[in-house]
Amino acid sequence: MNQTFPVLPLRDIVVFPQMIVPLFVGRDKSVAALEKAMAADKAIFLVSQLDPAEDDPDRDALYDLGVVATVLQLLKLPDGTVRVLVEGQRRASLAALNTADGHLVAEVDPVEIEEPEGAEASALMRSVVEQFENYSKLNKKLPAETAVQLGQIETPSRLADAVAANVSIKVSDKQALLAELNPLRRLEMVFAFMEGELGVLQVEKKIRSRVKRQMEKTQREYYLNEQLKAIQRELGTEGEEGEGDELGELNRRIAKTKLSKEARAKATSELKKLKAMAPMSAEATVSRNYLDVLLGLPWGKKSRVAKDIARAQEILDEDHYGLEKVKDRIVEYLAVQARTNKLKGPILCLVGPPGVGKTSLGRSIARATGREFVRQSLGGVRDEAEIRGHRRTYIGSLPGKIIANLRKAGTSNPLFLLDEIDKLGQDFRGDPASALLEVLDPEQNSRFQDHYLEIDYDLSDVMFVTTANTMDMPQPLMDRMEIIRLEGYTEDEKVEIARKHLIPKQIESHGLKVGELEYGEEGLRALIRHYTREAGVRTLEREIAKVARKVLRKILEGKAERASLTPDNVADYAGVRKYRHGISEEEDQIGAVTGLAWTEVGGELLTIEAVTVPGKGLIKTTGKLGDVMQESIQAAFSFVRARSPAYGVSPRLFSRKDIHVHLPEGAVPKDGPSAGTGMVTAIISTLTGIPVRRNVAMTGEVTLRGRVLPIGGLKEKLLAALRGGIDKVLIPAENEKDLAEIPATIRESLEIIPVAHVDEVLVHALASPVVPMDWTEADELSLHTPELAAAPDDNVPGSVRH
Ligand SMILES: Nc1ncnc2c1ncn2[C@@H]1O[C@H](COP(=O)(O)OP(=O)(O)OP(=O)(O)O)[C@@H](O)[C@H]1O
Ligand SMILES: [Mg+2]
Repeated sequence: MNQTFPVLPLRDIVVFPQMIVPLFVGRDKSVAALEKAMAADKAIFLVSQLDPAEDDPDRDALYDLGVVATVLQLLKLPDGTVRVLVEGQRRASLAALNTADGHLVAEVDPVEIEEPEGAEASALMRSVVEQFENYSKLNKKLPAETAVQLGQIETPSRLADAVAANVSIKVSDKQALLAELNPLRRLEMVFAFMEGELGVLQVEKKIRSRVKRQMEKTQREYYLNEQLKAIQRELGTEGEEGEGDELGELNRRIAKTKLSKEARAKATSELKKLKAMAPMSAEATVSRNYLDVLLGLPWGKKSRVAKDIARAQEILDEDHYGLEKVKDRIVEYLAVQARTNKLKGPILCLVGPPGVGKTSLGRSIARATGREFVRQSLGGVRDEAEIRGHRRTYIGSLPGKIIANLRKAGTSNPLFLLDEIDKLGQDFRGDPASALLEVLDPEQNSRFQDHYLEIDYDLSDVMFVTTANTMDMPQPLMDRMEIIRLEGYTEDEKVEIARKHLIPKQIESHGLKVGELEYGEEGLRALIRHYTREAGVRTLEREIAKVARKVLRKILEGKAERASLTPDNVADYAGVRKYRHGISEEEDQIGAVTGLAWTEVGGELLTIEAVTVPGKGLIKTTGKLGDVMQESIQAAFSFVRARSPAYGVSPRLFSRKDIHVHLPEGAVPKDGPSAGTGMVTAIISTLTGIPVRRNVAMTGEVTLRGRVLPIGGLKEKLLAALRGGIDKVLIPAENEKDLAEIPATIRESLEIIPVAHVDEVLVHALASPVVPMDWTEADELSLHTPELAAAPDDNVPGSVRH
């Protein structure tokens, strides 16, 4: 039995049975429907629109299920809209929709609801009520008593409707609840909705409390900071200095320091930023450190550079014995500087073996020019950032070594010694050498950029001096420097250096008194010969210190009052002898040659050994040899093989023998071509069985045709020969011109013989002359040598070609 009711379409609400809600009604059709209802039994059909924005909904724009409701109250407002209070009564389904008297009329079918009973129903009801209690605790919009009221509802359907009316979910979800006619299923649905909603509410609650905490913290900090400022202001006005705080101090420093324009702008803006920061924050620390570095630089502070050239020469002479050429060059350099007031000349680079005084010479130049001295060792610096600093964005970043050392120097025109520049590393973190290029270029270094500092710093007043053991460094770096070579010292020079500098220094630093320790000349020579083997004097200095220590102990123990070093008692103080003076062999040896090598640590004697072993004409090398040296052995071997009959060696020998060339002291890497003559001599000696003279040493590169080519490091090599007790040295003829530079003492103590061809080498080096094979015999042999016969060659005289 269908009933008809006027229809009130609802835009954004779903009304459930037993629910009392106020509604505002504005649409004409709806007002007319209400009037119709009021005129009859106050019953009206409430049904929700699918689309709330629809103004004139037709049948399709409305859901199927709605409620029949009673209008409890109706109030017309002056603007023509109507406020009504309605109470839902029962569900009804929309069967047909018509229009009559200016409003919608619905034909509805009543909907029967069966109220289930039993354990499941009551259990479900109980959990829904419980869940609702939780829900209402989190959702502040619900009045507290709602949960209590819900607890009193007895039928599942009404409970489900009551909960549905109270939870905040979407209209479409509510409509689904209305349309669900099975009360148990409806209960389950509201339960599920509440559960979902609870999750959301909990997250919301967490967020709210977190936000609140943060707010409280920042408010608190702000408040404390304001208080702090107020206190500081109070103290400041009472104190005598005005702003007594750290920021005021920084401000004063900025004003006082002779900053560059760029630096001043930077410092001021940094200080402004710092003022706005919380004083204890991490960023304030970074900012403070930065200002500290910036203001700590020696802006505008300079030492007065001494221009007295004669005095400079005196100082250099005071500090170092010998080194005349080097000192001359340095004084010339200073002379130019004194006149031009500029440092535009090339950078000096002192190159030489260890312990010859490069570093200490740098210090001495600083003293001679009245500059502060700073030294930075570049050994192992492999990161560009070590030179140029890290950007400030990194935590704990610092300026690079250049800027750091300038801070240390305290003046902007120190002497900056870049020590061991040849030991610069290089890897994936960038190339420190290229950063140095900028530092060392007088055209560029007035605007040196440190990553940390961010502003340019003028390095043009800094006098850079570099040192290196070898010239093994990048070419662009070399181009910027003037190389000054320091060679090793002769024994006589070492004696003088020890007497004038090392001994007084050690005696003083050990607290010995005058006369307590004396070094006789012979004692000193014994120390040099048997306890040191070096180009410089570093080990010697150490040995002298050791003797001083031992003597001091004896004196303090009362075992002696004074001591004097003689060749006889050297061992008592310095311990067992470390070196034999002269390492040359006691007797002439077959296949063992003394070569002369030049290494980073100066000249060295190099033993070259060769032996023949059963084999088939191959050559084997051992002793940690570099590529160039390996190749030079190959070349030496080929040369000997090609000319073997001339040396009385049967070519047939090579089908039965291998040659093994070894350079002892296998741990020391050896390289270079200059051992060529030595290799050839060793190979020929072992093949011919003629011994090599023990007192002869040699150096020289050899071509495949036996020509001897010039070598480098002649002085170092001669010094090594002298130290090693060699009498006769064979040097390449083309090096003869270099002898002019060699001190007379060396030239006089050695017999130096220039040689142009290997054959000349053999004449001097071998104990007896080689006896060439006659050629016919050699031909015979080559014919009968199997591998030679198998591969006939046009060049072999008389080769068989029928
Ligand atoms: N000609 C000299 N006169 C006086 N003292 C010297 C002389 N040569 C070297 N010395 C002293 O020898 C010691 C070692 O010298 P220094 O440290 O300068 O060597 P270096 O050339 O820098 O060696 P390295 O290449 O190993 O750094 C220093 O105490 C130095 O004063
Ligand atoms: Mg040094």
